[in-house]
Amino acid sequence: MRKPIIAGNWKMNLTPVEGAALVEGIWKEIAGQDAVEAVVCPPFVDIPAVAAAIEKGSMSIGLGAQNMHWSESGAFTGEVSPTMLLALGVGYVIIGHSERRQLFGETDQGVNRKVGSAIDHGLVPIMCCGETLKQREAGQTEDVVTNQVKCGFFELPRDKAAASVIAYEPIWAIGTGKAATPADADEVCGLVRRTVGELYDDDLAEGMRVQYGGSVSPSNVDELMSMPNIDGALVGGASLKAPDFARLVKFS
Ligand code: PGA
Repeated sequence: MRKPIIAGNWKMNLTPVEGAALVEGIWKEIAGQDAVEAVVCPPFVDIPAVAAAIEKGSMSIGLGAQNMHWSESGAFTGEVSPTMLLALGVGYVIIGHSERRQLFGETDQGVNRKVGSAIDHGLVPIMCCGETLKQREAGQTEDVVTNQVKCGFFELPRDKAAASVIAYEPIWAIGTGKAATPADADEVCGLVRRTVGELYDDDLAEGMRVQYGGSVSPSNVDELMSMPNIDGALVGGASLKAPDFARLVKFS
């Protein structure tokens, strides 16, 4: 019912030539599969080369960006707009990744504007949420995650929200090799779904895809993906090696 979506967040890694080679390597191992939506999110400057490789190889791999501004154009030095992404064939955009929130000052309000703008432009936002270790240990996970989801979708109408993907990424699990247990990840992904249900309705919540992210690897993907509320993964480290990312897409 909910098509699994495995997305690779390449972060600030790989040159255009390396990115094109990676997507070619991934496709070699997953060609023909269509049960899972596979998405790669390269750095902005790699996007044209990766898009060209995808087109040349007729690959059914989605192309995403890691961020965008909410405006179409203007005096925003260093930013990239949704229309620019669309012009390159981008279909997805990660919004509000914890690294952007923690290192680059992204706010819930900014995330909300970006989610709305992405949807207005026909891009699928992958909106990230997740607590720090301190917040988890203080028993604040539920409050933090619920609040991030509510803020992210603040005043967005139902039809817009329905097209979104939400990624639950506990910050303490990102890049640490210490993934959340499948049970813990599933519990918070379920909380995300319930929150969406409260904001909109159960139908929309049941149809929305919720990913888990944070040290997803070939060794834990099968168990994570077997959980009822986990519909996919947002993957950093393991998305940079073709065999590893292909294995994630081919989870069983
Ligand atoms: P990781 O990163 O898979 O390297 O933990 C996940 C992410 O930041 O999206």
